[in-house]
Formats: sequence, structure tokens, C-alpha cells
Amino acid sequence: MLKVGVITASDKGSRGEREDLSGQLLKELVQEINGKVILYIVLPDDQKLLADRMKVWTDVEEVDLILTTGGTGFSLRDVTPEATLSIADRLVPGIAEVMRMESLKVTPKAMLSRAVAVLRKRTLIINMPGSPKAVKECWQAISPALNHGIQILK
Ligand code: MTE
Repeated sequence: MLKVGVITASDKGSRGEREDLSGQLLKELVQEINGKVILYIVLPDDQKLLADRMKVWTDVEEVDLILTTGGTGFSLRDVTPEATLSIADRLVPGIAEVMRMESLKVTPKAMLSRAVAVLRKRTLIINMPGSPKAVKECWQAISPALNHGIQILK
């Protein structure tokens, strides 16, 4: 079983003004790769809060995979990629490249996603877009390779 953490970056969600459908969806999707979401939180779009949480889940909780959803677009409040890069040891450009490549077949707006994927210690961290539809599309693109990558980190 893979230990997974899900972080939803959403100002509205963190204030309880929007139901977190993408986070719920990710809980279901990770089962496809034998993952279980053991840690889950909705945070405001705040770079330090996001980065600190990723750091603790990596260094203390030692999860195998952190999936973030939201905060990857152009809004000035969208800082999930910056938070992720600030705590990264190594970059995994291919994962974000594949998400954008496949998503572009669905919508040209996919090029507006600034999502990144990185490694910190033994944890893989992947930014996904905010909408459930986009999460599903991106997940289908990347999920076939995740188990192999994560096993190498163990
Ligand atoms: N990727 C897929 N597969 N499907 C989509 O509908 N929407 C895009 C993009 N990626 C989309 C997608 C849009 S409209 C934006 S603004 C960016 O992701 C960033 O989304 P976020 O700000 O919710 O993270």
C-alpha cells in the first residue's frame, strides 16, 4: 500500500465556502495504484502554509506521494507550484509535461497550468489542476507510471 497525502489549495474551500470535490475524487483515484489517502487537508492559497505542510508530510510522516489540487493557474493567489518548488530536492519535469500534453487534447487552456512535479527525499509531489474534470484527465495520463517511480524511491 502506498501512503498518500492530498492537499487541496483553495481559499474558498478553506473557509468552508466550497465543497472539495477534487480532493474527494483523488481519494478514489489513488486506489487504482494501491494508494490510500492517510493525510488530507484543505489549505488557503498561501505559499508558506502549503510548503510547510508538504515538508512535514515528507520529513515526518514519510508519505510516498503527495498530490496537490488547485492553485496552479494565473490568478495572483495561485502559488502551489512556487510552494512545491521551494521545498523540492529534485525536479520531475516529465510528469507535468505529460499532464499538459494529454490535457491539451481536451482544452487549449491546459497550457495555463503551471503545475510541477518534484521529489523531496523519498516522496513524490505532484501538482494537479483544481477542477475535478481536470484532475481526472491528468490522473489518467500519469497514473500508469507512478507505481514504478515510487518503488524506486523506497
Ligand atoms: N487540464 C485538464 N486536463 N483539463 C482542464 O479542464 N483546465 C486548465 C488547466 N488544466 C484544465 C486543465 C485551466 S482552465 C487552468 S486555469 C489551469 O489548469 C490551472 O488550474 P487551477 O488554477 O485550478 O490549478
